[in-house]
Amino acid sequence: MTSIPTLDCSNIAMNLKDEEISVETLKEFGQNLFESFQVYGCAVLVNHGVCNKSISDAWEANKSFNSLGYKEKMQYEPGQVTGFHNMHGYQAMGKYDGPIDIDWCIRESFRFVPTRAKETNFNPDDSVPGYTEAFTNLWEASYQLAKRLLTSLTFPLAIKNQNYFTELFEHIHTQGCNATGLRGNGYQAVPEQLKDDKFAKSDRFTEHTDKGMFTVLYQDVVSGLQVQARSGAYIVAKHVPGSILVQVGEILQRVTADKIPATPHKVVVTEEQKKQSRHSLAYFLFPDKDQLLTCFDGSDTYPPIRTTQMTDTPDKLLHFEKAA
Ligand SMILES: [Fe+2]
Repeated sequence: MTSIPTLDCSNIAMNLKDEEISVETLKEFGQNLFESFQVYGCAVLVNHGVCNKSISDAWEANKSFNSLGYKEKMQYEPGQVTGFHNMHGYQAMGKYDGPIDIDWCIRESFRFVPTRAKETNFNPDDSVPGYTEAFTNLWEASYQLAKRLLTSLTFPLAIKNQNYFTELFEHIHTQGCNATGLRGNGYQAVPEQLKDDKFAKSDRFTEHTDKGMFTVLYQDVVSGLQVQARSGAYIVAKHVPGSILVQVGEILQRVTADKIPATPHKVVVTEEQKKQSRHSLAYFLFPDKDQLLTCFDGSDTYPPIRTTQMTDTPDKLLHFEKAA
């Protein structure tokens, strides 16, 4: 069976400073990543250099939070929020307030945005000590990784300005300017007495494409994620210990004028997996909320649009209306 390519990141790993990586090395990696995106829509990264402790601390914090009782978790539910960039806090199972167009999800999650964490009361440190620190650290590590990957992608696209993509989110650390978040996900095991219930029969998260530029995913040993290759075939994204999965979002497709298409994916569940809970950490990188998104090649394949128009309306058809 076909599997997603594994890219060795040793030469561009996060323990290396920018000046320690030659242009040729970055160029070669960017070409490999681009080719993987072209065929599979995603890539598995190993030897990436993202600190193991950052991953494991956030992983444990997420699992601890997911195991809390319903009432306790609901204390961190912010209720109705205006604007996707302001969304920070807990979302109960089955509730989805994000920017994508989906039929169904059986998932609970905590969407964590560090700049929002500084100004709200919806941080679960009272229930899970160290939660904010752990999530902030992995958010930052994922950001540094995403920046390097996006810089490498300027080469296969023949973009002269290596900061072309990273300039789209230069206000990422400024409060209220950017929606980039680290989402701690939890998919609960299905109790035996509910196994014939309509909820238990569904996929855990129906087919969709992510909205942002890039998704950086830290997966569980309990898999279930499937990604659609460009051939149309769905491929199981198996858990590779210590690896990170990266996939493409709709905004990157738009700004690259379809050169790097977004990746359809879903989370399915087998009878065996229903007996187990599943956890994941997903980092969704977005441009600054007021950024005007244009096609990199000046082609006007898509008309210019602001990030908020993409994030505050889940209508996928609207987003992919081509220029007249
Ligand atoms: Fe997704």
